[in-house]
Amino acid sequence: MVVIEVALIVIVGILLLHQVVARIVRKLVHFPAPAFIGRGLDSDLRRRLQPPDKIIQRSGIENGMRVLEVGCGSGAYTTFVARAVGEEGKVYALDIQPEMLQQLEHKLAKPENEDIKNIELVNSSAYDLPFDDGSLDLVYMVTVLQEIPDRSKALQQVRRVLKPGGVLAVTEWLVDPDYPWKSTTIRLGREAGFDIDEALGSLWQYTVRFAKP
Ligand SMILES: C[S@@+](CC[C@H](N)C(=O)[O-])C[C@H]1O[C@@H](n2cnc3c(N)ncnc32)[C@H](O)[C@@H]1O
Repeated sequence: MVVIEVALIVIVGILLLHQVVARIVRKLVHFPAPAFIGRGLDSDLRRRLQPPDKIIQRSGIENGMRVLEVGCGSGAYTTFVARAVGEEGKVYALDIQPEMLQQLEHKLAKPENEDIKNIELVNSSAYDLPFDDGSLDLVYMVTVLQEIPDRSKALQQVRRVLKPGGVLAVTEWLVDPDYPWKSTTIRLGREAGFDIDEALGSLWQYTVRFAKP
């Protein structure tokens, strides 16, 4: 019994220490999440902790929408979104790291995803979104915004490509070393000219839904 208690204390201690060190490093140095964490991002454990269908419903997704995912990583959310918008809809999965997109490409090549035909992979930066003005219904970002050094520049781009009334959904998760308070995310969106539509979820994980006026 004592052995189990000591083991639990050691595990929790290591996890807390990892969180503290990771947060300090992320404050000092800006770099995209390394591609080797892609498997962990798209794992059963993550799906249990942060269920994609629940997170995606918060964005107000609908059939037929044209959607951009900024910082798609290995695609933990992309396939769920692709199914939610259906054959009439389209998902652009954008990431700055080709290695992340390769992982998503492998995922899409698996037999269980052969029904998905509406995802286009885009290797680009959030600073330079290769889409026409006012051409998209929804842009979403999950644990991405704080990873981008010039958030204001990225959000201006998002605002440009959204249709009037289009939605930006920003989701953050406490486990992410870049996690910001909800008030910080709301302030960033407002400063970029978005109206706040709704803030959903808890301290553990929240989604702020903004609308382009
Ligand atoms: C923590 S990962 C999250 C990935 C995915 N959204 C998820 O929740 O599983 C952050 C992702 O944002 C991407 N990223 C970081 N800066 C970016 C930028 N300036 N433009 C586009 N993507 C960026 C990284 O390459 C990485 O794949």
